[in-house]
Amino acid sequence: MTLLELVDLTASYGPIQVLESVSLTVPDGGAVGILGANGAGKTTTLRAISGAVRSTGTLRFDGKDLRGLRPDQVAALGIAHVPEGRGTLSDLTVRENLKVGAYLRKDRKGIASDIDYCLDLFPQLQERIRSNGSALSGGEQQMLAVARAIMAKPRLMMLDEASLGLAPSTARSVYDAIGRLRRESGIAMLVVEQNANLAFTLVDTATVLETGRSVLTGTSAELRGMDEIRRAYLGG
Ligand SMILES: Nc1ncnc2c1ncn2[C@@H]1O[C@H](COP(=O)(O)OP(=O)(O)OP(=O)(O)O)[C@@H](O)[C@H]1O
Ligand SMILES: [Mg+2]
Repeated sequence: MTLLELVDLTASYGPIQVLESVSLTVPDGGAVGILGANGAGKTTTLRAISGAVRSTGTLRFDGKDLRGLRPDQVAALGIAHVPEGRGTLSDLTVRENLKVGAYLRKDRKGIASDIDYCLDLFPQLQERIRSNGSALSGGEQQMLAVARAIMAKPRLMMLDEASLGLAPSTARSVYDAIGRLRRESGIAMLVVEQNANLAFTLVDTATVLETGRSVLTGTSAELRGMDEIRRAYLGG
């Protein structure tokens, strides 16, 4: 079943149109990548889905039209956005950040067991549970951003450049944990990632964006086999 469907999506910042025609689908429980150069419109695509940027075209989640909804309404439908730059709250502790992620939930037992799950998935956060967000390393902040999204109990998680600025081993361990989360939770994922080698460890299919248009979609194996993808995104 299709969970998220974008067909010919357009979006603008004021008078400047940055998405011309973006089409992609995320199956329920599936993981889909978005690849593209700087400025191609990857972040804007996620922001359009989240309701932070206005869009035209088809934008449906679980059969519902998302256009015109506010970000809090989109979140309430079950879409969690881990933004570029992570967006963790620096004045709150790790535990408080996790509770903020669960703000729409009332099931206290479920919240407590999901906090335990996050700390099992990211043991480094357990060690930092009383630290303020501002005291965390970049890798720990990224882990916290993912964990906070888990706390919302989403059906779809959107990740924007989760590896950005991290040492390669840290980036790998973040993606390993996200892969485990995917297997154990069945949360669908829409993954923006410049490091295509990492993205391909997680996603089943990916869409390539060029200046606001989706120009190519394929399975990870198909895309890995293409010379132009290898040159542009896989370091030769
Ligand atoms: N708030 C904004 N106001 C005006 N233009 C913007 C704004 N944010 C982004 N843009 C422009 O929209 C285009 C797409 O930007 P976007 O951030 O979606 O690209 P991206 O693919 O995520 O790039 P990157 O890989 O650098 O993160 C770029 O030309 C960018 O300069
Ligand atoms: Mg971006």
